[in-house]
Amino acid sequence: SRSAPDPGALLAWYDRHRRRLPWRAEAGVRQDPYRVFLSEIMLQQTNVVTVTPYYAAFLARWPTVAALAGAPLEDVLSAWAGLGYYARARNLHACARAVVERHGGAFPDTEAALLELPGIGPYTAAAIAAIAFERRAAAVDGNWERVIARLFAVEEALPKAKARLRALALTLLPSSRHGDFAQAMMDLGATLCTPRKPACALCPWRTNCAAHAAGAPERYPVKAAK
Ligand code: ADE
Repeated sequence: SRSAPDPGALLAWYDRHRRRLPWRAEAGVRQDPYRVFLSEIMLQQTNVVTVTPYYAAFLARWPTVAALAGAPLEDVLSAWAGLGYYARARNLHACARAVVERHGGAFPDTEAALLELPGIGPYTAAAIAAIAFERRAAAVDGNWERVIARLFAVEEALPKAKARLRALALTLLPSSRHGDFAQAMMDLGATLCTPRKPACALCPWRTNCAAHAAGAPERYPVKAAK
């Protein structure tokens, strides 16, 4: 029978095939939490190609969380123009102010403390905790959900399956390299374990995947009928 997916196999794949993205640090280097925060807020509902110039522009104009907190909200909103979902820009600004007012300008370094900040939900808290602080946290996004639904051939439909997928995600976490693991899951979902025509032949977890074994990767994740 199939063995459990080894996080080390995914990390080895990531070392060879990871996407070079502007918000990523060199391998083995922790990323500045402000950069993780800025990129993760922008990447919610907006793709990598669109985000890239905005990320660069924000960082050039407001290089630190204190600089962003000191900016007038109108400036942040006008710099955001074109990215859409403007609530994200308001939350970004409110969160920067809270980091300065409550934490002296240093992001808190646990998932629980990050969750207390305005505009930071479970996904963003886990992403910052893992990528900036090497905390063992599951930043479960749509990519993670698809990968996990396939690995375990989860028959329960989204969105109900979210709790189960999250519980399974926790079983996959490595004991080190938490930031790399979080982003390796995103890259696996974005480049190989895609919604349509996944490239199973190239997948480091091919032999561990229940959906691949069943010859039906595209069947997962199951979605509730509309
Ligand atoms: N989407 C959301 N966060 C991401 C990240 N850190 N890298 C690539 N894609 C992402």
